[in-house]
Amino acid sequence: MVPFTSLRGGIINLYMMKVTKAIFPVAGLGTRFLPATKANPKEMLPIVDKPLIQYAVEEAVDAGITELIFVTNSSKRAIEDHFDSNFELEATLQERGKKELLDIVKGILPDGVSCAYIRQKSPQGLGHAVLCARQLVMNEPFAVLLADDLIDSSVQPCLKQMVDQFNKIQTSIIAVEKISADETKKYGIVDVASANEILATVRGIVEKPDPQQAPSNLGVVGRYVLMPRIFGLLENTVKGSNGEIQLTDAIAKLLHEEKVYAYQFHGKRYDCGSKLGYLEATVAYALKHPELANDFKRSLESLVE
Ligand code: UTP
Repeated sequence: MVPFTSLRGGIINLYMMKVTKAIFPVAGLGTRFLPATKANPKEMLPIVDKPLIQYAVEEAVDAGITELIFVTNSSKRAIEDHFDSNFELEATLQERGKKELLDIVKGILPDGVSCAYIRQKSPQGLGHAVLCARQLVMNEPFAVLLADDLIDSSVQPCLKQMVDQFNKIQTSIIAVEKISADETKKYGIVDVASANEILATVRGIVEKPDPQQAPSNLGVVGRYVLMPRIFGLLENTVKGSNGEIQLTDAIAKLLHEEKVYAYQFHGKRYDCGSKLGYLEATVAYALKHPELANDFKRSLESLVE
């Protein structure tokens, strides 16, 4: 924590909270992608040449996160291996003089960033997965990133935008975006005074409502900065929508105790948990990949002709 300095330069007794830990809940079953996700984690599906989880980790690191906490299950070992060093591969690349590839492999986890893994014993929902990380987060604000929401932003990575906001307002922030009326059943939906404000106070939040019951057209996407009070609330949250412990339900309780803001981030989100969103992301990222863009564009044009 960083002490605030008063205008006259003296230290005052207030501390600015910093976000240095991020939870990556990766213990879901990925049923929408079966059979691909039977033995392989959904989060290891590549967008061009990088797995989804690596994009999320890079976004977190760019936002100043130094402790990565993965909530996993027994079929997600590949994620652990991805962020660990692979001596045999590195030695072979070195031997063969493949310096560029060696640097890519060695740079997957930047220096000064650590990983911790904790198991969610059964898939009891996103809220339960977040609660599993409580002992590693302790009493600090933290980020949550869902790797299947891939967010491409030309301004600043989405989580960095949120952490910048957090540094000013020092309370929970959830990322939202405008969705169409027929999609409310797929999202948590926030109630805010004005859906046009970039940063708006959340007055209510409801998980997967019918379009008629939705309080706005702002759907929650997979980026959160949360205050640690959420853990105590999650502990007492009963199973909700889909028979799972929902993070949304705990946030609904949190906003009775503390301010929670909805933030409309700058950037394009791809729902890579769905086949269509995944394919869209693959095409969009391939079209801006420095080595592939031109050839891929030509292939795409000939395919759609
Ligand atoms: P999703 O519902 O999008 O992912 O959960 P899923 O359950 O893996 O996929 P489908 O719906 O069956 O296709 C949102 C995020 O929460 C994690 C998932 O891994 C995903 O990142 N999650 C979900 C958990 O870690 N544990 C759970 O019990 C549920």
